Amino acid sequence: MSDAQIIDGKAFAAALRERVGQAVAGLQAAHGAAPGLAVVLVGEDPASEVYVRNKGKQTAECGMRSIEHKLPAETDQQTLLDLIADLNSDDGVDGILVQLPLPDQVDPQAVLDMIDPAKDVDGFHVINAGRLATGGDALVPCTPMGCLLMLKEYLGDLSGKNAVVVGRSNIVGKPMAALLTRENCTVTIAHSRTKDLPAVCRAADILVAAVGRPEMIRGDWIGPGAVVIDVGINRIPAPERGEGKMRLVGDVAFDEAKAVAGAITPVPGGVGPMTIAVLLRNTVEAACRRRGWDLPNI
Ligand code: GUN
Repeated sequence: MSDAQIIDGKAFAAALRERVGQAVAGLQAAHGAAPGLAVVLVGEDPASEVYVRNKGKQTAECGMRSIEHKLPAETDQQTLLDLIADLNSDDGVDGILVQLPLPDQVDPQAVLDMIDPAKDVDGFHVINAGRLATGGDALVPCTPMGCLLMLKEYLGDLSGKNAVVVGRSNIVGKPMAALLTRENCTVTIAHSRTKDLPAVCRAADILVAAVGRPEMIRGDWIGPGAVVIDVGINRIPAPERGEGKMRLVGDVAFDEAKAVAGAITPVPGGVGPMTIAVLLRNTVEAACRRRGWDLPNI
């Protein structure tokens, strides 16, 4: 059997950003204003700083306004809640994103639930999670939405497919399962307590791995021809590249999996680039709904 098709998330994200840019140009021409995205970063976590820098850059490249608030690591919860209240009432702000993780003195869900659900471009507010679960018009978390867009591109109609989501986080696993259910898949959510996880995975037409454990899912856990979406981004030692060097791997053992799967996302260059592209799309959607503008088809 030939190797799996490699799903090029980088190219897919670039095409999505292009469509967002065109939509923003259309809104600017029609209404004389572009959507604005506020990003809040607390502390100096290096990975978060890279994400936030990339978000700011890509927001501006799409013609939107990027508003950044950087606060010190010792910021208390009330200060953060006050900032979010200001952003909620600022008419020039269409989307609000608070970068996670937050420092220990702050309760993340209290902060996320302070965000106006209409500006919650991460889709983490309990109202948006509830709307997604109950079939309403929700802003949907970016990473699972990026996975869904790639799956639909590769498979077309997902109706009736057996989908297995490994991982039950609020950020990826649960919303991913809700999105696949909405597409008429038969969905299993598997996790660390699942009995005979390899057998559960092997029954999947669509396998989404979002556990955060390097190369946990092996080639013989994958059914022939399955579409594998690897959400994991894990840094592991790479002594073959020199002392102290690291490399990125997913939750799936890629080389084993690609000999069995029908299609698979690589790490890096698969799901990762899609997350920010969907964030930009969500920002346009939030702006249009809140301002009563026609929603462009992106
Ligand atoms: N930290 C890692 N991923 C994300 C994300 O998608 N959104 C936010 N707000 N923080 C993150």
